[in-house]
Amino acid sequence: MEAMRAVQILNPSGEVTMPRPERTRVMCVANQKGGVGKTTTTVNLAVALALHGNRVLVVDLDPQGNASTGLNVPHHTGVPDVYDCLINSVPLEDVTQAVEGIPNLWCVPATIDLAGAEIELVSVVARESRLERAITAYPGHFDYVFIDCPPSLGLLTVNALVAAQEVLIPIQCEYYALEGLNQLISNINLVRQHLNPRLDVSTILLTMYDRRTRLADAVEQDVRNHFGDKVLQAVIPRNVRVSEAPSYGQSVMTYDPGSRGATSYFEAAQEIAERGVKEPVSRNA
Ligand SMILES: Nc1ncnc2c1ncn2[C@@H]1O[C@H](COP(=O)(O)OP(=O)(O)OP(=O)(O)O)[C@@H](O)[C@H]1O
Ligand SMILES: [Mg+2]
Repeated sequence: MEAMRAVQILNPSGEVTMPRPERTRVMCVANQKGGVGKTTTTVNLAVALALHGNRVLVVDLDPQGNASTGLNVPHHTGVPDVYDCLINSVPLEDVTQAVEGIPNLWCVPATIDLAGAEIELVSVVARESRLERAITAYPGHFDYVFIDCPPSLGLLTVNALVAAQEVLIPIQCEYYALEGLNQLISNINLVRQHLNPRLDVSTILLTMYDRRTRLADAVEQDVRNHFGDKVLQAVIPRNVRVSEAPSYGQSVMTYDPGSRGATSYFEAAQEIAERGVKEPVSRNA
């Protein structure tokens, strides 16, 4: 019911479609800076695309388990999770849960066990490509796989960068936003050179934009000058409904589909879908 209501409010004429890509787009949502909107972006884009007919998998790769919480997927100790895939080679489909209330959306949760993975991975064979192997071996077909990264550049994030074709970087519109981005980009370049030549920073999304401040505008100009058309036209405003939604186990798309937070994530999802059809990134079969 909530899913249907959300679609009716966000897309009343039904005119907006989100075309399905020809092949699975694996998108790594990364920024080692904490609290910039990685998880919020992952959850809301995933829900928006799923509500419009795309089959979407969210992989929670952060021991904080915020994406699992946001999608209301159980992730207490003892629940099979992404740790089991990375460390114990359990198939990804065995730990995947359907997201209740949103057709076409699934989640691989993270429990607190994942906190140990960063260290344990060090001594595991093919430690950088465990996630890539797990996703490649998945028998089901997805249009999108979103990987929500932790705020660090350790082995978990490296696994996400090796598994993905695309990187989506959320950037918070504030003064220190660009600090640290060079380090992220140089890590991405290293992964591209040595581990994953197809990796592309395809998408930059400006988050938590406060239009009352001149600073937000200056950050936006800086980011657009630097990254050009990788930056989505849609900008996510700071919006209290966005931050309230997770405490109800919901995305803002269903919690308050008429809010500015929901409509901007809807627009961002639409742009991503359209770009994927217009400029297909080179992908493995
Ligand atoms: N557009 C927004 N408006 C208001 N609050 C927001 C918005 N986007 C995110 N928030 C809030 O900001 C906080 C950080 O967001 P989020 O958890 O998505 O960031 P993150 O980059 O995943 O953080 P971490 O690095 O800890 O994983 C959360 O409390 C979230 O609810
Ligand atoms: Mg997060």
